[in-house]
Amino acid sequence: MENKYTISEIAKMFNITTNKVRFYEKKGLLEPLRNENNDYRTFTKQDIIKLQSILLYRSIGIPIKDIKNILNNSRKENCLTYFNDQWKLVNNEIDKLNIIRKSLESILDELYEETKEYKIDSKVLNIINESNELYNIKNNWQDKWNFNNWAKAYDRDIIEDKGTLKIYKNYSLILQNVYDTVKSFHIINPNILEIGVGTGNLASKFLNDSCSIIGIDQSREMLTVAKEKHPNLKVRIGEFLRIPYYNKCFDVIISTYAFHHLNTEEKSIAIEEMFRVLKDNGIIVISDLMFKSIKDEEDILRNLSIGQVEEIRDEYYSYIDFLISEFKKYNKKLQYKRIDKFNYIISVF
Ligand SMILES: C[S@@+](CC[C@H](N)C(=O)[O-])C[C@H]1O[C@@H](n2cnc3c(N)ncnc32)[C@H](O)[C@@H]1O
Repeated sequence: MENKYTISEIAKMFNITTNKVRFYEKKGLLEPLRNENNDYRTFTKQDIIKLQSILLYRSIGIPIKDIKNILNNSRKENCLTYFNDQWKLVNNEIDKLNIIRKSLESILDELYEETKEYKIDSKVLNIINESNELYNIKNNWQDKWNFNNWAKAYDRDIIEDKGTLKIYKNYSLILQNVYDTVKSFHIINPNILEIGVGTGNLASKFLNDSCSIIGIDQSREMLTVAKEKHPNLKVRIGEFLRIPYYNKCFDVIISTYAFHHLNTEEKSIAIEEMFRVLKDNGIIVISDLMFKSIKDEEDILRNLSIGQVEEIRDEYYSYIDFLISEFKKYNKKLQYKRIDKFNYIISVF
């Protein structure tokens, strides 16, 4: 006969209170049987396994309602939704705490240098203001292009290249060029991060080469398509402004057709983020829509239709000159190559 346990026994087993067990029951996570004679709860081995899972999921912060869904539907796609949500939440929290720690570090430096008694000092308030601003910029970035909606049609659309600017006409050539540029640095067993991996077309070149590569993207649907096409590709939800990885863990960072979804201010933050996760001797290779300079942009735009100009204004093309000065802040050199009217490849080393 199957072993049965009382509420006190299972509470003791997991070192929790009986109230906690009742709470999970009230929330619909546990459904113990009732003893026919005295109506006391009785728990089976299955309930014990379930409770263990509930406690473990809670220990990594999964909300009660999500645990209920996971327990009711253990299909991979369903579980991925909840664990991806938690991954995003945890990484956002880590990023937020890092910003706060950085500002506290600066505040403490200020205070230890103070000779007089502390009074609310504008320097300290400025530091807090700056870090709040940084947090707000990171938090306010939104996918106004709706890449989730585009994911399934993306590969077909780039082949058809319907837009009037024909930005995808050299797509294959560009991806190949990025791959060749990375290879030209002869880095042994590089750990590669691709940001804005999309459907995985560039990453697959490195996968075929047995490289270790992780693709991050803010769009879950893009990652689903990438994973369907390339089951061996490691993908994660992640953003330019909050790269969900540790400091100095990548040798190479690559990105194509993605950087122009950040405005100038966001680009500076993204560059700082890239250097945070890049090893000291690491390289960055980005291909994207760019102009050499503001003057170059004016010359090009003069010859375009209103519709084409609007198409460009819907995004944030970079200026090579701006990028050179940004990367200089990190003592890095930038080389660029123009592929066509709008597409450049930059390598930073
Ligand atoms: C035009 S697609 C390019 C996809 C792929 N890199 C390629 O070359 O085919 C842009 C991709 O960048 C992603 N993306 C845009 N802004 C991003 C951000 N701030 N952080 C991470 N990914 C972003 C989008 O979700 C989308 O998958």
